[in-house]
Amino acid sequence: MLIGQALGWASKVLATAGIDTARLDAEVLLAEVMRVDRTYLFSHSQDVLAGDQEELFRIWIYRRYQGLPVAYILGKKEFWSLEFLVTPAVLIPRPESELLVEGALERTARAGPTPLIAEVGCGSGAVIISLARELGRGRFYATDSCPFALWIARQNAHRLQVADRISFLRTDLLRGVIGKGWHGRFDQVLSNPPYVPRQEVRSLPREVRLYEPRRALDGGEDGLYFHRRLLPEAICLLKPGGYLLMEIGQGQCQAVLSLLDEEKALAEVEVLRDYRGIERVVCARKG
Ligand SMILES: C[S@@+](CC[C@H](N)C(=O)[O-])C[C@H]1O[C@@H](n2cnc3c(N)ncnc32)[C@H](O)[C@@H]1O
Repeated sequence: MLIGQALGWASKVLATAGIDTARLDAEVLLAEVMRVDRTYLFSHSQDVLAGDQEELFRIWIYRRYQGLPVAYILGKKEFWSLEFLVTPAVLIPRPESELLVEGALERTARAGPTPLIAEVGCGSGAVIISLARELGRGRFYATDSCPFALWIARQNAHRLQVADRISFLRTDLLRGVIGKGWHGRFDQVLSNPPYVPRQEVRSLPREVRLYEPRRALDGGEDGLYFHRRLLPEAICLLKPGGYLLMEIGQGQCQAVLSLLDEEKALAEVEVLRDYRGIERVVCARKG
């Protein structure tokens, strides 16, 4: 089969499964099979695929046809221009979560030479690892309730050479960190907690609903179960002047601002919008 023919066939197959990005997905998967970049495919459309390449490509197209996201097929996803390993044990890091990293970086100016930062629900580790690399200094704690997610996060920290500065803890929210007695010592607490209202989980796109971990999505009745529980724990760990940054879902801003309003320890609340203009990250400073 020629490269051009393979792409035409795969695009049609994926389109019949209702995949909007059929052509793009076919190109990304074939480029990875051949270990070339996508532009190579266009300039070599008349080249013949090797037998083993065609076989692997057909397997991957079949998996994609079944709904498996491209990132899980490839086992990797780019975030903050870094490559992260991903498996179905972790949420595929989303571009909008880069705003958490940006927000955290902008708020480290007043921290000392070794900022102490915690992330709750680290998943693949994309947020905390990107921050650790970009900051080049600091001590980090990353928690998750899932041991398989923590295993992936540790692999990513090793691959990206920040494992010596990040401690990964299996615990409920921040309980394991609070248990160490570090009250009032953290410069920042960050989290992209599960925030999809329970009733909406079943109407998420098929590839999210079937393949991404439910424990990374389901935010309880109104989607704010974790934000609500995180507030007092984060306040307990933050030092005066320290920041809490939480990712939120579309349309949740007012409800989260009301929660923050009830916490007298937090002030200077700011809302950061993502690249689509959606209110995405809420930041608050401990007074
Ligand atoms: C939305 S994902 C975020 C993953 C990653 N931080 C990112 O932005 O790509 C939420 C994460 O919270 C974890 N989680 C769920 N419940 C938790 C709990 N009670 N304590 C700690 N982590 C939890 C999930 O396992 C999942 O990895």
